Amino acid sequence: MARQTKVLQKDNIDKRELGYYYTPPFVADYISKRLLSLNPKGKKVLDPSVGQEELLNNFFDAKKEVDGIDVYQHKDNYQSNFSQQNFIEYYSTIKQKSNNEQISLFEDSSEDNGITFRNGLPYDYYIANPPYNCHEVNYIRDNKARLKALFGNVGVHNMYSMFISSIIDVAKNGAYIGLITHDSFLTAKHHTKLREQLLNECTIHEITLCPNDLFHEQDADVRTSILILQKGTEYQGDVFVSNRPSSTQAFKQQLAQQLANFATSNYKAYQLNDITLTSSRDNSELIIECPDDVKVLFTNERLGEAYRCVTGISTGNDKLYLSEKKEEPFTVPFYKNPGKNRFFTDNYIYLHKDFLTFDAEIKNFMVRNKSLLFQPGITCSSMGVQFTACRLPEQATYGVNANIICDDEDAWWLLAYLNSELVTYLVRGILIRSNMITSGYVSRIPLLNLTKKDKTTLSDLAKNAYQKAKDDHSYEHIQQEINQIVNELAEISEPTIAMIRHFNLDLIKNT
Ligand SMILES: C[S@@+](CC[C@H](N)C(=O)[O-])C[C@H]1O[C@@H](n2cnc3c(N)ncnc32)[C@H](O)[C@@H]1O
Repeated sequence: MARQTKVLQKDNIDKRELGYYYTPPFVADYISKRLLSLNPKGKKVLDPSVGQEELLNNFFDAKKEVDGIDVYQHKDNYQSNFSQQNFIEYYSTIKQKSNNEQISLFEDSSEDNGITFRNGLPYDYYIANPPYNCHEVNYIRDNKARLKALFGNVGVHNMYSMFISSIIDVAKNGAYIGLITHDSFLTAKHHTKLREQLLNECTIHEITLCPNDLFHEQDADVRTSILILQKGTEYQGDVFVSNRPSSTQAFKQQLAQQLANFATSNYKAYQLNDITLTSSRDNSELIIECPDDVKVLFTNERLGEAYRCVTGISTGNDKLYLSEKKEEPFTVPFYKNPGKNRFFTDNYIYLHKDFLTFDAEIKNFMVRNKSLLFQPGITCSSMGVQFTACRLPEQATYGVNANIICDDEDAWWLLAYLNSELVTYLVRGILIRSNMITSGYVSRIPLLNLTKKDKTTLSDLAKNAYQKAKDDHSYEHIQQEINQIVNELAEISEPTIAMIRHFNLDLIKNT
C-alpha cells in the first residue's frame, strides 16, 4: 500500500478522479482462485482497469497470457501486456467496428487478428475492480451524449456500471468474469437495465457481499461485492450468495472457508429464482439470502396498489420559503423527513402561504400531487439507514420524502405495520440496500392479508405507541408486541425472525 500511495502522490494524480482503490490482496487472491478453479484450462486474461496488477498474481503463476488496460500508467514495468488506454473508449471503438471489421486490442499482437466483436473478445477470463466514481467525474460529464448513445438504456450513472456493462458485452460465450465492485447495482432503480443485461446475458455463479470497512484503510466508505459471472445463460446452475460480514477480519476467514467449501461442493445452493425479484411490479432486484417465507410476501398486494404513495413540495430554496417560526406569511405546516422518529413526529416547520402561486410562477419551485395535499396519512423517513413511519395529520403539506395518503382507519394499522421489524428488513434488506428510500420503493412494500380484527389490534397498538412517543415516553414494549403480531400474521418462522433481528441490529454494517 505504501508503494501505491507513493506513486499516486508522486505523480500528483487525482485518486478520486481515477477511482483508484486497490483490491486488498486476500480478495484478489480469492477472485482469481475462483476463476481458475471454475476454468483451469483457459488461456487468456484481461484486466481492463489493471492499476498495478493487484488482481493478477495467480494468473501469472498459472502461466496464463495476461493483458492489462489502464487509462493511467501506474508503474514502470508490467508483467502483463500493458496497454495504456481508456477502456470505455476502447469499447466504443470496437463496438463501432463490431458489424464488419476484425479487431485487435494490441497493435503488435497478431494473435488477436481475425476476431470479430460479434463473437466476443478472445479472453477466457475477465477480472476487474472497476473505477469507483460516479456521474460527477469529468470524463462522464464531458462525454455524456456520446456515452449515453453507447450505453443506451443501461445509462451512464457511474464508471463501474459502464465497465460491468461493457465487459459483459465484449465477453465471448463461456468466458468467466470476476469482479469486485460497488454494489449499488443490486437494488437501485436506476440500475434496472444493467441488472436485466446481467440476467439476460450471463450466468451468475456467486454474489458475495463484502464488509463495509473493506476500503476504510484507503479512506473510502464503499459498499462492495464480489461477483462471479459467466457469459451466456446456459451455464446457470446453483448460485452461491452471501450477506455482508461484520468486518474485514471476519471476511478473511469467510473467504478462506468459501474456497474450501467450493472444493468439496459443501455450500448452501440457491437457484437464480431465489435471488431475483422478477414480477412485473419489481425491477429485477438481486436479493441476497432472502428466506422463502419473506420472499413469498412479494406475491401479495403492494402498498402502492392500495394507497397513493407520493412526494410533495420542493421549494428550490428552503431559506426563502420555509420558516421555523409560525409567523405571517409562513403559516402552512410543512412536514419534513421524520428521521429517527417513529409513530409521532413534530419535525415540521412552516411554508409560505402563497406556495401554489410560486409553483405556477417559479421554475424550480415544485408542488407535486396537488390534489393530495392537506390530506391525512403517514409520512416516512427517506434518508439514513433506518426506515420509520409517523402519522401525517390533516391540513399539512410535506416535502420530498415518501408520504402515504389514507384515511384514519387505515393509517393506524398501517403505521404499526410500517414500524415493524419485518418491514425494516423488507425495505433495507430487499427493496433498497443503497440509497434514499423514495416513494417508489415504499410503494412496493408488500402488504399482509389482514382481517378486520387484525387491523383493529394493530391500530390500537399504534395509537398507544403514538401517544407514548408524543409524551416522550418509551414505546419499546408496544413495538415488541407489534413485531410479534406482524411476524405471526405474516407467518414468519423463528429462524427467519432471528435472522431479521440480527440484520436490523446493525443496519449500517448489514445493508
Ligand atoms: C479501483 S482501481 C483498481 C486497481 C487494481 N486493478 C486493483 O484491483 O487493485 C481502478 C483502476 O481503473 C483505472 N481507470 C480509471 N478509469 C479508467 C478507464 N476509463 N479505463 C481504464 N482504466 C481506468 C484507474 O487508473 C485505476 O487503476
